[in-house]
Amino acid sequence: MNLKKTGAALAVIASLVTSGAIAKAEEYKVGLLLPFSGVYAGLGSHIENGFNLGLEHFGSELGSDTITVDKADTEADPASSLAKAKKMVLQDKDDVLVGLVSSAVLAAVRDFVHQSKTPLIVANAGNDEATGADCSPSIIRVSFSNSQINRPMGPWLAAQGKKKVYLMAPDYAAGHQMMEAFREGFVANGGEIVGETYPPLQGTTDYGPYLAAAKAANPDAIYVFFAGSAAITFVKQYKDFGIGEEIPLYGSGFLTSAAYVHVQGEAADNTTVALHYVPSIDTAENKAFQEAYQAKYEGKLASEFAVAGYDSARLVIEAIKAAGGDKAKFKEELAKVSFNGPRGPLRIDPATHNVVQNVYIYKNEWKDGKVVQTILETVPDVQDAPNGCSM
Ligand code: BEZ
Repeated sequence: MNLKKTGAALAVIASLVTSGAIAKAEEYKVGLLLPFSGVYAGLGSHIENGFNLGLEHFGSELGSDTITVDKADTEADPASSLAKAKKMVLQDKDDVLVGLVSSAVLAAVRDFVHQSKTPLIVANAGNDEATGADCSPSIIRVSFSNSQINRPMGPWLAAQGKKKVYLMAPDYAAGHQMMEAFREGFVANGGEIVGETYPPLQGTTDYGPYLAAAKAANPDAIYVFFAGSAAITFVKQYKDFGIGEEIPLYGSGFLTSAAYVHVQGEAADNTTVALHYVPSIDTAENKAFQEAYQAKYEGKLASEFAVAGYDSARLVIEAIKAAGGDKAKFKEELAKVSFNGPRGPLRIDPATHNVVQNVYIYKNEWKDGKVVQTILETVPDVQDAPNGCSM
């Protein structure tokens, strides 16, 4: 080997890298912060599955840069989640955090990611403030905001001739924000809220007393938010309680997510909900995504949670590509990504860093031994007002 020549070649490469003429290979460390236990356990594994599929699909476009992933269980517990986020950033030196399912957990980690300037891609938690009054250049939300999903349902349900509605949701930020967004549009269109109740998020196993109170208020409809194991229990008990015949059930689509609607089965019949993703979206992008997901994960339907994981991976990869090996630029590029994915067109609003996307109003019907989800209306390009956000 000619050491002189090799040394000279290395010096040329080093000067090209330093001058930026060629990019040096970077390792990007991703910390997945998701619930793998507690009421939202199943949601975390759907997001992780979607994220891994996204890495597989878009990772080959990375060139010499690499991504490594570590993960931690947030349960639905704000205090321990903050400690885990700090460990990922300060000790494990992760470049970007991805995940968070509970609005309360997002509220708990917000100040830390803002002050440490750590990019956080929110893959579920809808906490309105995170892209409103408490927005941050470091927080990019690829999932939804609580008001974004529920806002279209107020005018829509009023237009269906429902005059009196009873509200029900778990007693924490997401539950209250989702009901508030519905209430605003419903009341502005002539509707009346005849009562509301907020059971505890963790540990509610018997919705009987809450359903009895709802029935006693004599509404035309009940509008709810429940997700995860709470949604499964609630929908089954709604059916067992026998009020569905007289008082139809509406809500945000987490109620009958593709992650667990097969477990709810016939109990989900005749419920109508709104969400940013439903597996029956009739586009080539969605069909290809569902096919790939089902092939990888034993025929399971991909849910809105899986889509958020998939799109988060795409966001990370597209930002890495655009950054050309510059990690500071990577942070800026995250908020500039836009694409047409499984849920339809997606872009990040530069004013708030919340996602702008379609909301689908769809009906669940029990047909031939399975739940069929039919889209009744697509509300295009739903965008939040800045709501106090100043970047
Ligand atoms: C939330 O806490 O923001 C949330 C949790 C599950 C589904 C949707 C929203």
